[in-house]
Amino acid sequence: MMLAGQRALVTGAARGIGAATACALAEAGATVISADLDDASDTASATNGQAIQVDVSDETSVAAMFDVAGPLDCVVNAAGILIECPTLDMSVAEFDRQIAVNLRGSFLVAQGALKALSPRGQGRLILIASELAHLGRANFAAYCASKAGVIGLTRALAHEFAPDILVNAIAPGPTDTRMLSAETMSAEALALETQNPMGRIGTPDEIAATALFLAGPGASFMTGQTLCPSGGAVML
Ligand SMILES: NC(=O)c1ccc[n+]([C@@H]2O[C@H](COP(=O)([O-])OP(=O)(O)OC[C@H]3O[C@@H](n4cnc5c(N)ncnc54)[C@H](O)[C@@H]3O)[C@@H](O)[C@H]2O)c1
Repeated sequence: MMLAGQRALVTGAARGIGAATACALAEAGATVISADLDDASDTASATNGQAIQVDVSDETSVAAMFDVAGPLDCVVNAAGILIECPTLDMSVAEFDRQIAVNLRGSFLVAQGALKALSPRGQGRLILIASELAHLGRANFAAYCASKAGVIGLTRALAHEFAPDILVNAIAPGPTDTRMLSAETMSAEALALETQNPMGRIGTPDEIAATALFLAGPGASFMTGQTLCPSGGAVML
């Protein structure tokens, strides 16, 4: 129960990596607020916590979420979207939407988090990037750009807020969630996902384990880092 007595907020918590992270933090003793554009009440029930509806790309919505959440020890921003599209076919609206949710959303959640975390000692802010920020991939230009932006944001915030708030990112490799399914990705793109040294995709729990580490006492000397649980797809 290494997070006993702590309060955490996780966005993108209705499913996938966000839901697994909310559960991992709750199992470690934290009181967890689960926020999402969709209904996060299943995660809230599983964690004995509260669900909040939020659109992370919207300034007013994010401000309202932090008003409800109150003081926090840990914030994880896992909300994100992905649109696969050849660059020459991508509309400006599709490009802007991915930047708005993935990058502006990270900025807005970070701003709210940095205020909510400040009064409570060594707060932890964890942003979710992607292995594709490092690797790049055809037909995912906006997504790759948005996630590379998250890594830059992480480094800048780590400089600005150390030592009071530690800011780190996770750049997951392919993970078994709705984002990595035929609903959102082509068969060709999905086929690339097992091409890492471990030859498989990861589970949401394996990404949540990295978030739990960054939220816990073991990461007390770590800021500005991007950890890559990716089956070895990314080696830095
Ligand atoms: N699954 C992967 O292979 C993979 C790999 C690298 C990075 N990621 C990143 O991990 C994070 C979690 O993704 P996932 O794989 O669990 O996908 P997912 O699609 O299962 O979950 C994403 C969640 O974000 C929520 N969301 C989307 N837009 C939102 C908004 N505007 N405001 C609030 N919530 C919003 C969705 O409702 C959903 O619950 C994302 O940032 C994603 O880019 C995923």
